Amino acid sequence: MDRNLALEMVRVTEAAAIAAARVMGRGDERMADQVAVDAMRSALNGIKFSGRVVIGEGERDEAPMLYIGEEVGQGNGSTIDIALDPLEGTTITARGDNNALAVIACADKGGFLNAPDTYMDKIAVGPVARGAIDITKSPTENLRRVAAAKRCAVEELTVIILDRPRHENLIMECRRAGARIKLIRDGDVSAAIATCRETRGVDILMGIGGAPEGVLAAAALRCMGGDFQGRLKFRNDEERTRARAMGIADFERVYHLQDLAKGEVMFAATGVTHGDFLKGVVFFGGGCETHSVVMRSKTGTIRYVTAYHEFAKKPH
Ligand code: FBP
Repeated sequence: MDRNLALEMVRVTEAAAIAAARVMGRGDERMADQVAVDAMRSALNGIKFSGRVVIGEGERDEAPMLYIGEEVGQGNGSTIDIALDPLEGTTITARGDNNALAVIACADKGGFLNAPDTYMDKIAVGPVARGAIDITKSPTENLRRVAAAKRCAVEELTVIILDRPRHENLIMECRRAGARIKLIRDGDVSAAIATCRETRGVDILMGIGGAPEGVLAAAALRCMGGDFQGRLKFRNDEERTRARAMGIADFERVYHLQDLAKGEVMFAATGVTHGDFLKGVVFFGGGCETHSVVMRSKTGTIRYVTAYHEFAKKPH
């Protein structure tokens, strides 16, 4: 994979983030998502490459753009598989809350799990606790293992969990084990990434979120040296049927990092609203400032990009 593609992808997430940030706080999730999708698609189609969306906005019948299987780019060279979420945090953006991102990841053909649009039980940690987690064990056992790897007490660990009724037991167990908890309203890609940055004060992500977001998080953690495991969680038979059609045979399978994002992987994200990881888009007279990250699994380089956009010269 051409390494310059990674930098091209920053332009793509910047475009989506700027578009979504313009409608921040309007209370309209659909609109925020749509403008991000339009901007991301148009930016992708400006790049000289052959991309195929494998994690996208949904299947063709339900997503008019950036649907699974859609080909993007101007066509050049071998096909690159793309996992994307033009707006990871639609509700966040509609409310003007924290931690919404525009996200994209690239891999060689077949590099990403074709994840169905269902839930996934997830556990993620940063590099220090790599190899210590096991999603088949209890949350308490995982907390003990992560604490041992980090040479600290369970009481000093912070678990980040989506604030959902389905996590009531998980939250109770983590509290009983003595761990600190950070409950978030949305955005578990950003939460998984937070486990990889020691300064973010988050040690482990646990709980159930979207499966496509699991693939995106795994791509980021491949680049950052973290660890991730996931297990699909189906809500009904229709989801099972769709999963079967996408080639998923073993519904109990534990997906490790390499099963979700294998080979050489690139990941780029731009902050839409302010977050722990990236600042959001800041508008000023005639332009805006964006904050992005771009990383590659091959080199482990993590590059932060602050960009100043002048709308008179380059309309967004
Ligand atoms: P959207 O941007 O699609 O709204 O996803 C936000 C998110 O919080 C994800 O980060 C997470 O994986 C998923 O939703 C959780 O799903 P649910 O809101 O159904 O619990």
